[in-house]
Amino acid sequence: MKKQSKTSKPWSGRFTQDTDKLVEEFNASIYFDKRLFRCDIKGSIAHAKMLARVGIIKNKEADRIISGLKAIEKEIDSGKFIFTPDLEDIHMAIEKRLIEKIGSVGGKVHTGRSRNDQVALDMRLYLRDEIKEVKGLIKDLQKTLSDVAKKNLTSIMPGYTHLQRAQPILFSHHLLAYYEMLKRDYERFEDCLKRVNVMPLGAGALAGSPYPLDREFVARELGFSKPTDNSIDSVSDRDFCIEFCSAASILLMHLSRLSEEIILWSSQEFGFIELSDAFSTGSSIMPQKKNPDVPELVRGKTGRVYGNLLSLLTTMKGLPLAYNKDMQEDKEAIFDTVDTLKDCLKIFSPLLQTMTINKEKMLDAAKGGFLTATDVADYLVKKGIPFRDSHQIAGRVVAYCIKTSKGLEDLSSEEWRRFSKTFDEDIKRVISIEASVNSRKVGGGTALEGVKKRLKEIEREIKL
Ligand code: ARG
Repeated sequence: MKKQSKTSKPWSGRFTQDTDKLVEEFNASIYFDKRLFRCDIKGSIAHAKMLARVGIIKNKEADRIISGLKAIEKEIDSGKFIFTPDLEDIHMAIEKRLIEKIGSVGGKVHTGRSRNDQVALDMRLYLRDEIKEVKGLIKDLQKTLSDVAKKNLTSIMPGYTHLQRAQPILFSHHLLAYYEMLKRDYERFEDCLKRVNVMPLGAGALAGSPYPLDREFVARELGFSKPTDNSIDSVSDRDFCIEFCSAASILLMHLSRLSEEIILWSSQEFGFIELSDAFSTGSSIMPQKKNPDVPELVRGKTGRVYGNLLSLLTTMKGLPLAYNKDMQEDKEAIFDTVDTLKDCLKIFSPLLQTMTINKEKMLDAAKGGFLTATDVADYLVKKGIPFRDSHQIAGRVVAYCIKTSKGLEDLSSEEWRRFSKTFDEDIKRVISIEASVNSRKVGGGTALEGVKKRLKEIEREIKL
């Protein structure tokens, strides 16, 4: 007879030596996966109910297991539960405590189950809840964007391409561009949820289970759409985690673009907006400074979430089927992504609600830089001149204005007609920036009536 290991590990049966302390520390995920405790208990309760239902354990045994698990949940909630690395992860910690509390019957909860399908289940339950919360936060931010757009409906600003002033647009239209991005983000999370919401228990370690488990019952009990279809895939799939990080990365890419604009707009060079004092910070050396730390951090944290996505993709790359311990590394990337994403979404609404919009500055910027030069060309087109010629003529008008330090609105009828006899008095109306904005009535354009119409639709969309 070989000397038995002294460890109390659930798998210690075939071992004759205790685990090295270094290995214990290195192997443990308990420090971070303890956050899955509620999902783990929920999953175990459903599993125990099912085991009783199909007659693998007795109803009385299931009842004891379930009340034991509920008591453990309370212990963890109240901070009384002691987590130690020797039990490696949340699954073993809870199982060990269950046996301590209710005796050897606690050992029956793991019948027909492996930590491999258990951890897949926990991650799915966890992400499912988080996605619901994220969707709510996206909606809140969409609402804020539409509220701020409504409040500043008619403010005109320069629209940019290449960060050069291009054409006048409504500030509200610009903000609603972000509404549309968030709408796609919302859809992406909704779609991701479909693939998160399948039930892997029954896969066992990888090959399925010899017990007559009722997988449909567990799926129903836990609110999943269906059980998974392949036991090997069930324990080796982390696509749903990668998809979540990918959707989070795209969303944060959007927020980082808005952050960048807010940073630019609040600079003295632009002066389009001012962040409230409550959402800005000062400098420890320069007394005059008011810094946009919040949008800067959102921009920075975007990089960190991309890192998590890359980390997950790299961890999964080339892994043979089925479960490999590498996959334990998914947790910190996912948890950090969830926390970072929610933090960024939460801070953005009040940041936008409390900023002041400097309408005059925006309007002045839209007035400089010949932003209605395209309208001049379009005017000539409407009078029958081919667009290429019109573009040339309008370009010459601009060159003349630059040379004579005039704005388009300063030109006399006689000056206009020097460039083309087609110019009539009505050109003066065309070059006003309000006219330029309101001429863009095409669907999705910046004309006030179009933006108003979209805001009406948005009001309905937000309520969905
Ligand atoms: N702590 C592990 C993880 O997070 C749970 C699954 C472990 N399975 C195993 N056979 N070692 O992935």
